[in-house]
Amino acid sequence: MRHLLSTGDLTRDEAVLILDTAAELAQVGDRSVKKLPTLRGRTVVNLFYEDSTRTRTSFEIAAKRLSADVVNFSAKGSSVSKGESLKDTALTLQAMGADGVVIRHGASGAAHRLAGWVDGSVLNAGDGTHEHPTQALLDAYTVRTRLGRLEGLRVAIVGDILHSRVARSNVLLLTTLGAHVTLVAPPTLLPVSVHTWPCEVSYDLDAVLPKTDVVMMLRVQAERMHASFFPSVREYSRGYGMDGARLDRMPRDAIVMHPGPMVRGMEISAEVADSPRCTVVEQVANGVSLRMAVLYLLLGGS
Ligand code: CP
Repeated sequence: MRHLLSTGDLTRDEAVLILDTAAELAQVGDRSVKKLPTLRGRTVVNLFYEDSTRTRTSFEIAAKRLSADVVNFSAKGSSVSKGESLKDTALTLQAMGADGVVIRHGASGAAHRLAGWVDGSVLNAGDGTHEHPTQALLDAYTVRTRLGRLEGLRVAIVGDILHSRVARSNVLLLTTLGAHVTLVAPPTLLPVSVHTWPCEVSYDLDAVLPKTDVVMMLRVQAERMHASFFPSVREYSRGYGMDGARLDRMPRDAIVMHPGPMVRGMEISAEVADSPRCTVVEQVANGVSLRMAVLYLLLGGS
């Protein structure tokens, strides 16, 4: 494995290896093992053309825990504002010795293009509405840690599927790992190609919840839609928001997930977001171990 561009590229064995490696690295960073020397002398560039809190920070912490040198590059304040292209930016960073490039970009396919231009490994940290593979991997890791398995679990992914890179990466990964996925959304927030995805589709959240082990709530991505298409908060939360009453309709051990950032009161109530059955903070913590695992497996070879 040289790049991580899509969860659809991972075999079951490769995905399980990443999750198992993350489990082994989970102790790194605590008092007894602050750092590992694995990536000493390697340089990781965080190349972010879109805003991020969790992904960029956790990739930086992960790389530093493996002793890599980290360069954080933000399009804002760089020569991108003077018109420099992605290709020229990438070649410039490569000339400075980047061994791995973590890229977030607003264009679907940007990570694939980058992989064709640079010699080092490319890690897709979210490309447009296409994929966000490390988010799906940390979600799978969180489910496996909480519920002990992925095989045979029933997972509902709820909300703005149309604009979600997290949904596609999760559908591809979870089905590879043996889970059954149902997408739940209003028809206006589903892509026309959804019938080709390896999952079921429902418009009725209340019908799906009683037979669901894991529900993943998604944010409605206002920044990717025209203002006139943005649903009213009240209407949306009535049909597709997760609140205490809906949580009560799920099996007792079922969990609620969210990749963040959350919009409390729209797709998730504060009561559910702060409930012990909601894994959102665990997901963030697991993101560091998971991204360490990916950097270790991609860049750790001689
Ligand atoms: N989940 C996620 O990608 O969050 P950020 O946009 O903060 O990185």
